Amino acid sequence: MKIIGKKVKRIDGFQKAEGSAKYASDYYFHNMLYASVVYANVPHGILKNIDVSKAYELPGVVYVATYKDVPGINKFGHVIKDMNFLVPIGDKVRFEGDVIALIAAESKEIAEKAAKLVSCEIEELPPVLTIDEALKDEIIVNGDSNIGFHRKIRKGHIEDAFKDADLVLEMNFETGYQEHAYLEPQGAVAYYTPDNVMEIYVSAQCPFYVHEDVANILGLPLNKINVIQTETGGGFGGKEDVPSYVAAKPALLSYLTKRPVKLIYTREMDIKETSKRHPSKSYFKVAFKKDGTILGVKSKTYLDMGAYSTLSPIVMYRTTVHSCGTYKVPHVFVDVYGVYTNKVPCGAFRGFGSPQVLFAIESVMDEAAKRLNIDPYEIRLKNTLDVGDETATGHKLTSSVGAKKTLKKVYEISNYPKLKDYVKKYNETNKFKKLGLGWSHIFYGVSLGSGGQHLDGASAEVLIQPDGTINIMIGNTEMGQGAKTTMAIIASEILGQKLDKISVLQPQTLVLQDSGPTVASRTTIFSGNAVRIAAKKIKENIIGFLSNYFGVGKNEISFSDGNVLVRDKIFTFEEITELCNKNNVKLSEIGWYKTPKLHFDHEKGIGEAYITYTFSTQLSLVEVDILTGKISLKEAWVCHDIGKVINYDGAIGQVHGGVVQGMGYAIMEEIKQDNGKILTDNFNNYIIPTIKDAPQNIHVEFVEEEFSEGPFGAKGLGEPSLMSSPPSIANAVSNAINKRISKIPISMEDII
Ligand code: MTE
Ligand code: MOS
Repeated sequence: MKIIGKKVKRIDGFQKAEGSAKYASDYYFHNMLYASVVYANVPHGILKNIDVSKAYELPGVVYVATYKDVPGINKFGHVIKDMNFLVPIGDKVRFEGDVIALIAAESKEIAEKAAKLVSCEIEELPPVLTIDEALKDEIIVNGDSNIGFHRKIRKGHIEDAFKDADLVLEMNFETGYQEHAYLEPQGAVAYYTPDNVMEIYVSAQCPFYVHEDVANILGLPLNKINVIQTETGGGFGGKEDVPSYVAAKPALLSYLTKRPVKLIYTREMDIKETSKRHPSKSYFKVAFKKDGTILGVKSKTYLDMGAYSTLSPIVMYRTTVHSCGTYKVPHVFVDVYGVYTNKVPCGAFRGFGSPQVLFAIESVMDEAAKRLNIDPYEIRLKNTLDVGDETATGHKLTSSVGAKKTLKKVYEISNYPKLKDYVKKYNETNKFKKLGLGWSHIFYGVSLGSGGQHLDGASAEVLIQPDGTINIMIGNTEMGQGAKTTMAIIASEILGQKLDKISVLQPQTLVLQDSGPTVASRTTIFSGNAVRIAAKKIKENIIGFLSNYFGVGKNEISFSDGNVLVRDKIFTFEEITELCNKNNVKLSEIGWYKTPKLHFDHEKGIGEAYITYTFSTQLSLVEVDILTGKISLKEAWVCHDIGKVINYDGAIGQVHGGVVQGMGYAIMEEIKQDNGKILTDNFNNYIIPTIKDAPQNIHVEFVEEEFSEGPFGAKGLGEPSLMSSPPSIANAVSNAINKRISKIPISMEDII
């Protein structure tokens, strides 16, 4: 490889560091209006009346929109449309962030003042605030029952597993919310071009979702709306479906006023209205043989969906598939339920429903190791998946399974036996500070999976300009994870042009075919393949021409490092581009990649769940102050099998960020609520890790068990980089205090 896997400078780094990169709030248009939002602010009730007259009296207010102003379908929901865009009179309010009205005004200040002048009469109903209350189904939040969705896996005969077992563990787990805490809050600007196309500039992971949803709300054809992704300051899943709800607001106001309209959320609005990671409660019963072999897993998990289903049914699919962890399990009986409550709707968050159950199953593995007197490393090595094995859903893995290698690598780089010794001695001599070691071993299905195949395609356009510079546009988005650099590296490897001559553009939905959402850690495989296919086609066009023109064999032409070698003559890439242009060679191509067909029985939960899996192992060293309850992550050793490393520094960055974000989930971050209202609505009281909380050393290694379908063998890393962290840290804490903690976040009070 010439550039794949090498350390390179991030291509979008300079503008971001310098401050010239344009985020949603950096867009201004002549004659632009500012939007504000009127919220219900009660968790449950019936909307009786809306009075907008006082707001209209305020000078500078141009429009106050309610449900009556929506020209198209006043509903959202990618799976079922159970959420109002603007709540109609007579309908229900189901959480504090339900939206009643929108204001467009000449300034932000006027818009915000006017929002306070809209009065709404709501007849309050008793709210449902916990999973347990919801399950009683006495007060119905949404639909016919608070249990909105159910998914399952049925494999083998679970009772046989319990009959044959030497050890049966039964454990209950709870996990909390997590806020995405992207640095850039949600925001969008809507603007009409002179040819009457509505352009929407939006901070988003999936411009195509925004496109479709805004078209539905406005009742416009798709070719009259162009969604352009702005530079996006983090998404982490929180900008998958949510930007539709955000962008529809200025879009409606722009439609009504025919003026540009801007809406940038404050952090408080963002935390109140937009999605979080689902809190969960689960019950696991797992059967083991004396030697640590798993015989069967029975589990039941409830996810708190909040007031609307949004992406929950898809999140739950991932929860179900990942419930048994990275292990061979002959008998499986898994149930996952999505439950409505009168709280903020939960949705996509890095890991997408798997971190909740991976915490559970990895805690079970540790507990079993302890009871059976086996090392937690050994019990994982014994049960982990390998080529030829089947996952819990019966997916037979035929290649690209580096699970064992990741375990062995972490064992080796951490010098595990010595480390264990050190921890033991430390704890014998220290009374009030205890060290703990914790393993986790996880897997992650890359791609949208069997249920989402209709969306699992991706498009890329590659264009060589007359001066030899290259533009790439992909249908997936850069949101901080480094996708632009990864795409440029792939094009550079194939075409041989230097990296600094390649730029990757923000996606526009009127230019590219729907490439699905930028989620499920799928960008490297999907957009990466689309870029590979397009770049290869261009290369073939050039080689075809050059071999004719110079009368040489096609295999005598090669591209690298900004040069083209034709038999024994070296040309610069620019010289060749000029020659090609003079001879009308086609230098732009579109690449399209779609997944191979997956076979899955959704009734039984059996089959090929995802196109491939990433495998990961983490070992964490924590220190617990048993007087104050303070936990610190001292050091972590991590190894991921990602098929092939394309963007080395980007991959390291993903792991560093993932470990720390996962640490926040495990031991720091907590949403506090009072009667359904979120109290922790900014970063003064919703505490996330900072550089001071990050461990000094995060040791990262990669295993490269190539995935035949992946570009150069690559799989995905975006989410597994977080997912290994919470169970590993939680296990380390339990190890330090010698007592199992079965809830996250683990607070100082829990330790005490
Ligand atoms: N890294 C950064 N810096 N910012 C992000 O918003 N999102 C994560 C992960 N890593 C995110 C991130 C999530 S939720 C996903 S699905 C993947 O990146 C998506 O990008 P990929 O497909 O390129 O892995
Ligand atoms: Mo990531 S949660 O799949 O956006």
